[in-house]
Amino acid sequence: MEREKIIVLDFGGQYNQLIARRVRECGVYCEVHPYSMPLEAIKEMNPKGIIFTGGPNSVYKEDSPRCSKDIFNMGIPVLGICYGAQLMAYLLDGKVETAPVSEYGKTEVEVDTQSRLYEGVSPKTICWMSHTDYIAKAPDGFRTTSHTPVCPIAGMEDEARALYGIQAHPEVMHTVEGAKMLSNFVYNICGCSGDWKMDAFVESSIQSIREKVGNGRALLALSGGVDSSVAGVLMARAIGEQLTCVFVDHGLLRKNEGDEVEAVFGSSGPYHLNFIRVNAQERFYKKLAGVTDPEQKRKIIGEEFIRVFEEEAKKIGAVDFFVQGTIYPDVIESGLGKSAVIKSHHNVGGLPEHVDFKEIIEPLRMLFKDEVRKAGLELGIPENLVYRQPFPGPGLGVRIIGEITAEKVRIVQDADAIYREEIDKAGIAKDLGQYFATLTNMRSVGCMGDVRTYDYAVALRAVLTSDFMTAEAARLPWEVLGKVSSRIVNEVKGVNRVLYDCTGKPPATIEFE
Ligand code: XMP
Repeated sequence: MEREKIIVLDFGGQYNQLIARRVRECGVYCEVHPYSMPLEAIKEMNPKGIIFTGGPNSVYKEDSPRCSKDIFNMGIPVLGICYGAQLMAYLLDGKVETAPVSEYGKTEVEVDTQSRLYEGVSPKTICWMSHTDYIAKAPDGFRTTSHTPVCPIAGMEDEARALYGIQAHPEVMHTVEGAKMLSNFVYNICGCSGDWKMDAFVESSIQSIREKVGNGRALLALSGGVDSSVAGVLMARAIGEQLTCVFVDHGLLRKNEGDEVEAVFGSSGPYHLNFIRVNAQERFYKKLAGVTDPEQKRKIIGEEFIRVFEEEAKKIGAVDFFVQGTIYPDVIESGLGKSAVIKSHHNVGGLPEHVDFKEIIEPLRMLFKDEVRKAGLELGIPENLVYRQPFPGPGLGVRIIGEITAEKVRIVQDADAIYREEIDKAGIAKDLGQYFATLTNMRSVGCMGDVRTYDYAVALRAVLTSDFMTAEAARLPWEVLGKVSSRIVNEVKGVNRVLYDCTGKPPATIEFE
């Protein structure tokens, strides 16, 4: 049976992914595509509804992104958001102008609750506005369904043609009843029944992996992170021992992490994966000796990882499939690819050049991170693994400022383990986006037991973030920081000072390197 689908056409808005996530949270599958997608291709996908995103442009500018106005004649409901609503008005011969007053931020909007889009929404509701243009005249056949004191047409609709425009952003949290509006669109207007469920996804993935792989063999680089773990277990459920997982321990993992991964995925673990652990610590440390430049360190770790993996793959021989834990945000982002490179991120499991395989399988390619976690739980992976905080591919390599040595790895592992333990004890882990210890390259004078010390400073970081693109430094309770600081200085040899990083992102990044 074909799955119901909503498609989001991206007109350059910063919230494109968020819209798709919110729709999926309603239980309806949703994909993001470029605004330039041909109508034929849209038709072929047979969507139940189409959503136009916002975007930074003005519709009346020559080079602004536009789609064909025939899209409105396909008999598929359309919801235009912000720029998307203005585009709908513009293409259907309404009028869009620069608003006399721009609206930005939380705004009280009066809505007509008779509209199917606003059913069950409060007549006066707080919405997130962010616009300098506005719809000055709705197209023929449309009626106004919401307004603010300075935006006379904050919502418009042509119910007969199922065309809806809304100036506010229902996808962001600040629009208090935004989820209701999106749910109204997909259920009331598009007539979806809500068939996007994780158990069904897991079952159908297992089926299609089996069909695709047949008697073939597959290879996966397992990092122990959420994505590759879920991909590994899903594949193992489908094809059992036809799958081999290679886990490269580069010696830059958190304390005991290598053993923890082995305990879960190793031959004595619950999943019976074909698991190979490669202890390559010495090799990495040797390559990294004397290197201090962050980008160079990242490149060395990334390349060495691939080399080790390839050597291991060679021993296994030719395989039919190479499995990657790619997830949907990577797919969307690589499709757009406009942002500047701040750091060359490498994901363990990146594509090796010299591994002999015929095809790539990406079983999580269509899932957002929260869905990957749900699939993981569905597959019976332990919660502590499924909710593990993100850990960069280059590992502690980017948490040791300057040269990496085995001794420094030991220091940052021990300090980080204490920090994580105390955060857990304080019961605040779930409130934090990410938290970890970093070893600075700074040594300073201290005094312990009447003796002068000249040791390293550890910097603690804890951030609040939902998307990891921006972050705020968390205000950790002073008692927790005090406890962590005294434990680190007392228990970790080589450290005599603990600092806390209060910087947000931007201007800093989450990791130090
Ligand atoms: P930054 O430091 O860029 O980090 O603010 C944003 C998020 O990305 C993680 N990170 C990485 N993840 N490979 C990854 O898979 C990498 O090379 C990498 N570098 C940073 C970081 O931990 C944070 O969650």
